[in-house]
Amino acid sequence: STATTAETFRPALHFAAKNTWLNDPNGLIFHDGVYHLYFQNNPVGDVWGNMSWGHATSPDLLTWTEHPVAIACDDQEDIFSGSIVFDRNNTSGFGTESKAPLVAIYTSAFKTASPHTGLQAQSLAHSLDGGYTWTKYDNNPVLNRDSGEFRDPKVFRYDGAAGSYWVMVAVEATDFQVVLYKSENLRDWELLSTFGPANATGGVWECPDLFPLPVDGDPEHLKWVLVVNLNPGGPNSGSGGQYFVGDFDGTTFTSDTTVTEGTHDPARLAEYHWLDWGRDYYAAVSFSDAPDQRRLMIAWMNNWQYANQIPSSPWRGPMSLPREVFLRTVDGQPRLEQHVAEDFAAISGLSPVYELAETTISNETRVLEPAASSVARLELTFTPGTAEEFGLVVRGSGLEGTRIGIRPREGRLVVDRRDSGQSDFHESFSSLDSAPLLPIDGSYQLSIYVDHCSVEVFAQGGLVTMTELIFPQENSTDVALYATGGGATITNLTVTRWS
Ligand code: FRU
Repeated sequence: STATTAETFRPALHFAAKNTWLNDPNGLIFHDGVYHLYFQNNPVGDVWGNMSWGHATSPDLLTWTEHPVAIACDDQEDIFSGSIVFDRNNTSGFGTESKAPLVAIYTSAFKTASPHTGLQAQSLAHSLDGGYTWTKYDNNPVLNRDSGEFRDPKVFRYDGAAGSYWVMVAVEATDFQVVLYKSENLRDWELLSTFGPANATGGVWECPDLFPLPVDGDPEHLKWVLVVNLNPGGPNSGSGGQYFVGDFDGTTFTSDTTVTEGTHDPARLAEYHWLDWGRDYYAAVSFSDAPDQRRLMIAWMNNWQYANQIPSSPWRGPMSLPREVFLRTVDGQPRLEQHVAEDFAAISGLSPVYELAETTISNETRVLEPAASSVARLELTFTPGTAEEFGLVVRGSGLEGTRIGIRPREGRLVVDRRDSGQSDFHESFSSLDSAPLLPIDGSYQLSIYVDHCSVEVFAQGGLVTMTELIFPQENSTDVALYATGGGATITNLTVTRWS
């Protein structure tokens, strides 16, 4: 049978909770050989509420095991987003003689029963068993600004010219401001500086991150990346993530990529740097202590516009694939380049099920029968000819399909999910979205990861990415090439299939 069942959309390659709601990734850390993914979770429902930290672990970023709720809400507080550090020298004092603690820094969203009603402030919990059970600190919150919009602390260890200490980045969400704090012990915090408003300021700023990366792989040339998620105001509407590239001297982040100071000019949105141009890549943050100093990120693969209505059941909301990020110089400027994380790629070293040698298509849609699949990686390079638009249709059957195309004259990558399957659950879901895309040496390279409810497009080696949810019928598995208004040449195509 080809009926859409309750579990039709459960991803094969992405984490989703077994039977509950999730949003932002929290407390991402690699510890004792295990990747920990905590997440905003409603432990007893499939819509947002009762916010707690759910928990999953993975040895390889591909297969995940869900564990009991790690940090639960109570009558005083909801547990909003935050991060975890391994306090190897027990600076916090939460450890014992023989055991250094993991320390979670999370936002307490205080409820009416609390003396702090209406405030958001930063709190601590610690774990001595490698992240499975957590104890809240008695003297929470540890950092209170008497603000109702102060949230999403990301803490990291700064070791540089200015010294060695903990740094927190968090937001004053409605002020479009990142606030930076410093601490010796994770309990007492001192304001360092603020950043913003700058560039994209639609909606509110949420879930910031700050980390150094070598430029073009040169360890002598570090630049700092400040990630600022915002909602709404993303590049194709709703939730999105922008980044700034600059320097951090231990006190202040200075951006090289500020286009607009203060609140943004919607007409300049295309000039801001986006982590992803798709509709469903939000609250992206990076892992602490990833192996080999790699910078690995995961996002919530959803959009607040319709997140509570997507038609998956009994779970709701998947995570993105984990990505490794790099800085590459493009036209003299460092830009983020993103690849699906290497651990994942190694495991997925399955042999291609389908390969196509150089082929020209013209004013046609050509279904590639042997390439049919619902979970696959498609890799290909196009050389434009006279076509106005060319690309692929994935998860297709008859009139249904998700179109991923390039419009060389407009210099754009498009993802069209207007006929991708179920879309009437929310008025803003059906969409044709796009990103700027230029050829490199005259051609366009795409890596596309297709799963039961998503497409993730990495264009030009990951310099431009677009991530989108789709809800196709189970039997919509066709892969097709198309070109309209002329011809285009595919110089190679490989399809790797999981199921
Ligand atoms: C982002 C966000 C965070 C907040 C959390 C609450 O999606 O709004 O700012 O901490 O979700 O669930």
